[in-house]
Amino acid sequence: MCAANVVSFLPLAYALSPDVKVSGDMCTVIPLGCGKDDGPNILAAFQWCRTQGKIVLDGEYTIGSVLVTTELKCVHVEFTGSFNFVPNTSYWTENSYYMGYQNASTFWFLSGDHIHLFGGGTLNGNGQVWWDALANNSIGVAGVSSTTFARPVLLTVGNASNVLIDGLRQVNSPSWNNLIYQSINVTYTNINISVTSNNSNPAKNTDGWDIFRSSRINIKDCVVNNTDDCVSFKPNTTYVNVTNLWCGSSHGISIGSLGQYAGVTDIVEDVRINNITMVKGQNGARIKTFGGSADQNSTAGGGSGYVLNVTFQNFHLTDIDHPILVDQYFLCTWHCLQCYSTSTDICAKHPSQVKLSNIHCTFASSTCPDPVTLHAT
Ligand SMILES: *[C@@H]1O[C@H](CO)[C@@H](O)[C@H](O)[C@H]1NC(C)=O
Ligand SMILES: *[C@@H]1O[C@H](CO)[C@@H](O)[C@H](O)[C@H]1NC(C)=O
Ligand SMILES: *[C@@H]1O[C@H](CO)[C@@H](O)[C@H](O)[C@H]1NC(C)=O
Ligand SMILES: *[C@@H]1O[C@H](CO)[C@@H](O)[C@H](O)[C@H]1NC(C)=O
Ligand SMILES: *[C@@H]1O[C@H](CO)[C@@H](O)[C@H](O)[C@H]1NC(C)=O
Ligand SMILES: *[C@@H]1O[C@H](CO)[C@@H](O)[C@H](O)[C@H]1NC(C)=O
Ligand SMILES: *[C@@H]1O[C@H](CO)[C@@H](O)[C@H](O)[C@H]1NC(C)=O
Ligand SMILES: *[C@@H]1O[C@H](CO)[C@@H](O)[C@H](O)[C@H]1NC(C)=O
Ligand SMILES: *[C@@H]1O[C@H](CO)[C@@H](O)[C@H](O)[C@H]1NC(C)=O
Ligand SMILES: *[C@@H]1O[C@H](CO)[C@@H](O)[C@H](O)[C@H]1NC(C)=O
Ligand SMILES: *[C@@H]1O[C@H](CO)[C@@H](O)[C@H](O)[C@H]1NC(C)=O
Ligand SMILES: *[C@@H]1O[C@H](CO)[C@@H](O)[C@H](O)[C@H]1NC(C)=O
Repeated sequence: MCAANVVSFLPLAYALSPDVKVSGDMCTVIPLGCGKDDGPNILAAFQWCRTQGKIVLDGEYTIGSVLVTTELKCVHVEFTGSFNFVPNTSYWTENSYYMGYQNASTFWFLSGDHIHLFGGGTLNGNGQVWWDALANNSIGVAGVSSTTFARPVLLTVGNASNVLIDGLRQVNSPSWNNLIYQSINVTYTNINISVTSNNSNPAKNTDGWDIFRSSRINIKDCVVNNTDDCVSFKPNTTYVNVTNLWCGSSHGISIGSLGQYAGVTDIVEDVRINNITMVKGQNGARIKTFGGSADQNSTAGGGSGYVLNVTFQNFHLTDIDHPILVDQYFLCTWHCLQCYSTSTDICAKHPSQVKLSNIHCTFASSTCPDPVTLHAT
């Protein structure tokens, strides 16, 4: 399907600058240096070589404009360099690519069919300025971001199919590191994610991966050291394997949160999580569901749906507060279980409408009992 070599034509809107070298089907971007924005040249390279081409990114690039690279078809991206996303919170709040779900927006929206990104390059999100601003301002945030203060996702594979990302370093994302958005058949291998705040302002919402409306996803052989979920399965995630991960300081491998938006159905189905090493974190395996809500326009609970056929297998936990944690409804006979991000009062009156079934855990010398008593191991 990617075999024949077809010459692509320069779209009129993109004049190639001397800093994009074209040789046959290969486009190489030369960094401008001195902190000048390489974004437009990178976009031009992705346009020119977008069909059956190869894009070479081997320098240190400054990214001061949003990257929406779409309509790629059978493209190899050799990324051995680095993208340094400028820490301009007002620019990105206005211009990062907005996706709607939890107000998420992104620095880089990578889209198309048959995309191979490889080479071990680095995406640096310069998160510190975002965490500092977040710690300092009183702007309410719903979910990952808000419309008045967007903290972009470092890399989004969106509206895409048949994508392989093999070898990538991700440093200090302002929020989620990876979002898989409305995509099918996406594989990540050899990804190294690290998040470190250099002051007392915490790095927030720095999930390793979030998966939304996507199917046939593989995440394998990756190392994550962050401050939120290692992997998070958001609404309508199906057929996923997560294998051989090391997760440090994380909040767990989490299904959800689900049921956030009233009137919306959220499904997570056919997920297998195997061989996960977790060190110094809050949770191991986690399921988060919002409570119900009487408010038909609620954005903090009231949705429905189900979680079905999920297996958590071979978890190796050291220094993890809650090996298994389910936030599903209010129950105080043993441990106090709570709906996720919902007051105990609302949770007791309006239990979660997200049903859990066929969920298996085989670790910590126990098998998961019925979700009702799942809190203990
Ligand atoms: C940040 O972005 C804004 C809006 O795009 C722009 O006006 C401003 O000059 C930028 N700041 C810096 C330091 O580049
Ligand atoms: C935080 O707010 C204080 C008071 O408004 C201000 O002096 C300081 O520069 C702010 N810091 C950041 C990182 O925005
Ligand atoms: C987006 O953020 C705004 C506040 O800026 C909030 O009112 C709204 O509920 C959020 N939307 C979603 C879908 O989370
Ligand atoms: C992604 O798909 C949605 C429809 O689900 C569409 O509205 C949006 O424009 C697409 N984005 C891009 C960059 O292709
Ligand atoms: C899934 O995507 C990978 C990477 O592009 C590709 O090699 C593989 O053939 C795809 N699988 C199917 C079933 O299309
Ligand atoms: C991952 O990256 C961090 C910092 O970027 C580094 O300290 C660590 O050694 C890397 N881990 C692996 C397994 O490559
Ligand atoms: C993980 O991050 C924490 C906090 O920044 C740091 O203390 C620790 O050394 C990191 N661990 C590894 C293995 O990178
Ligand atoms: C997940 O692994 C199972 C068992 O190895 C395999 O049958 C299935 O195809 C894999 N799923 C994906 C999405 O690759
Ligand atoms: C489990 O994952 C670790 C990496 O975290 C890897 O070193 C080890 O070989 C894996 N074990 C199996 C049985 O695949
Ligand atoms: C999830 O899929 C179901 C069934 O196709 C659909 O009704 C629902 O609207 C979807 N939810 C989201 C958040 O896309
Ligand atoms: C359960 O999910 C796994 C992982 O995706 C899949 O391989 C298996 O076929 C599913 N089982 C059923 C009964 O659908
Ligand atoms: C829900 O939102 C719709 C449209 O904004 C509005 O017409 C309706 O009154 C709202 N309902 C409630 C119960 O707030």
